[in-house]
Amino acid sequence: MAGFNTRLIHGEKINDNQTGAVNMPVYNSSTYVYPEINGKVRWDYSRSGNPTREYLEKQIASLEHGSNGYAFASGMAAIHAALSIFEPGDHIIIGNQIYGGTYRLIKEYFEVRGIEFTSVDTKVNAEVEAAIQDNTKAIYFEPVTNPLLQVTSVRAIANIAQAHDLLTIVDNTFLTPYLQQPLDLGADIVVHSATKYLGGHSDVIAGLVVTKNETIGKQIYFVQNALGGVLSPENANLVRRGIQTLSIRMDRQQENACKIIDFLNESGQVDTIHYPGIKGTRDYEIASQENDGFGGVLSFELNEDVDATEFVNNLQLIRLAVSLGAVESLAELPYEMSHAELPPEERLAAGITPQLVRLSVGIEDVEDLLGDIQQSLTIATKSNNVQSINRDAI
Ligand SMILES: Cc1ncc(COP(=O)(O)O)c(C=O)c1O
Repeated sequence: MAGFNTRLIHGEKINDNQTGAVNMPVYNSSTYVYPEINGKVRWDYSRSGNPTREYLEKQIASLEHGSNGYAFASGMAAIHAALSIFEPGDHIIIGNQIYGGTYRLIKEYFEVRGIEFTSVDTKVNAEVEAAIQDNTKAIYFEPVTNPLLQVTSVRAIANIAQAHDLLTIVDNTFLTPYLQQPLDLGADIVVHSATKYLGGHSDVIAGLVVTKNETIGKQIYFVQNALGGVLSPENANLVRRGIQTLSIRMDRQQENACKIIDFLNESGQVDTIHYPGIKGTRDYEIASQENDGFGGVLSFELNEDVDATEFVNNLQLIRLAVSLGAVESLAELPYEMSHAELPPEERLAAGITPQLVRLSVGIEDVEDLLGDIQQSLTIATKSNNVQSINRDAI
């Protein structure tokens, strides 16, 4: 098998292309001709299968070392499909820090339709084991959580799952197959918001599911075709194109993230930095064993002397926006933005304070990012402002 970077660029060989095009064409056809009434056709209708979408589906399956891949109209549609293979009466253990949209889907859609869920801290094996019931069918979690970047060992969870005949489902959005291949660590299903690193340019909403084997693959395909939340050919093409530069983007994003961490540490204006690549932590130990890198997202607690709202409001280059994983750097305040739906006491209990800033680091020149952070810190530092007010008074 060709190397990972080569497979990012080339995917599966294109063999139905009459034109010699280097890239898989965008097949904007909803339907396909039958040569005759009883003729066997590979393609019949684009909800059931589309060559452009299939190219991406095969590519993500190859990159994740899975058997089958499926592309959906969003990450949420992909997660919905993965959870739709279960039935009323089944029980699923979920990580207690999963993406809010996934939690909403579970609570307000699947739970009311008779699937039971127990949320646990997946970092604690004993908590996971204690939650297993007779009707438990799966464990669903994110190996790196948002916004605190806490790490769960995929291998540890998969071991527990295998011992009890449960499926392990991993949301690999933050790491991507470039940095972690959960199926190799024992997982059965991987889901992605391809909107993030795989697309990589904040210009497409997409989701992917990869299964370890054909049997689970067929169950996902049934849901994809029956419910119809498929990715369009145009958007499949955008994700395909994004994937080609995944590794070089992530290399730069990680490099920039590390330099920003050094800068923040030296600034004296940050109490805590959350990033799995910080040596000497439990998260670092697990991540360095199971990952090939630590990702391009970090979060940090500004100290009390910095007004966090002023800080994010005054960033010039780094844009104030939710989402992550794209070429441009984005900042947000989880307490006010991505996690605002949680009651304040739950946000605080989860460690999401008003001083917490999340950065999704892009591929800009790091000097420009550091300059932007510095100028914004200066404006947002309360003691600087008091001095300037005093000076004005004089
Ligand atoms: C970890 C994770 N999973 C899933 C999703 C949902 O993906 P989408 O927004 O593409 O539906 C997100 C979105 O932010 C996410 O961060």
